[in-house]
Amino acid sequence: MSENKIPPPPNPHAKIERNVGLLIGLVAIAVSFGGLAEIVPLMYQAEAIEPLPGVEPYPALELAGRDVYVREGCYNCHSQMVRTLRFESERYGHYSLAGESVYDRPFQWGSKRTGPDLARVGGRYSDDWHRVHLIDPRAVVPESNMPSFPWLADAEVNAEAVARNMRSLRRLGDPYSDEDLAGVADAVAGKTELDAVVAYLQGLGKHAPTGAAQ
Ligand code: HEC
Repeated sequence: MSENKIPPPPNPHAKIERNVGLLIGLVAIAVSFGGLAEIVPLMYQAEAIEPLPGVEPYPALELAGRDVYVREGCYNCHSQMVRTLRFESERYGHYSLAGESVYDRPFQWGSKRTGPDLARVGGRYSDDWHRVHLIDPRAVVPESNMPSFPWLADAEVNAEAVARNMRSLRRLGDPYSDEDLAGVADAVAGKTELDAVVAYLQGLGKHAPTGAAQ
């Protein structure tokens, strides 16, 4: 019987299927095309994102506060991104949009929430509440496990560092004017890092989109 076996028709694909190295190489090329088709448009999309109406580069004091926020690692416990889920927008407000974080370098979206999301915390509490809370969280929220940050009240904002930061951001394209730069020293004169963080927190979500949250 075996002598009558009909030879299989020629199959050029067999060469690829029998050569694992070639197969891996060609699969990698095919997949990379798929990847490029997904990734390349996103690169251009990021540049095309316009700030939402009213969203402007951080004023000097808020910029200083943002630096303290990053330095103290607040992002380890707090995200700044309301997700597009109903229970999130009912708790925090309208879900976050890319146009809100155009001037956030680096952005503070995050996903780690030991504490609540802070994207919309601006205006939710008074300045005094924030001061007490940052110096001793348990004074206002007895069950809180947020660390205390008492040293912020004693540290003065370093105007020179804020100006340097602003200059770098301007080089990256943030529309700071010469007046903004010249005004840094006055804007932060006599302010503590606590004042700066509170100003930053109170500005968060100020230009959040309004309208029905979905
Ligand atoms: C180890 C985790 C942790 C770190 C680090 C942390 N927090 Fe918190 N934060 C919490 C927790 C938990 C709560 C909720 C309890 C409370 O209100 O204290 C909270 C609450 C808050 C609230 C109130 C939010 C609301 O909607 O009620 C603010 C504002 C806040 N944190 C700011 C900060 C800032 C600013 C920093 C950095 C200087 C910081 N947190 C660092 C855990 C943390």
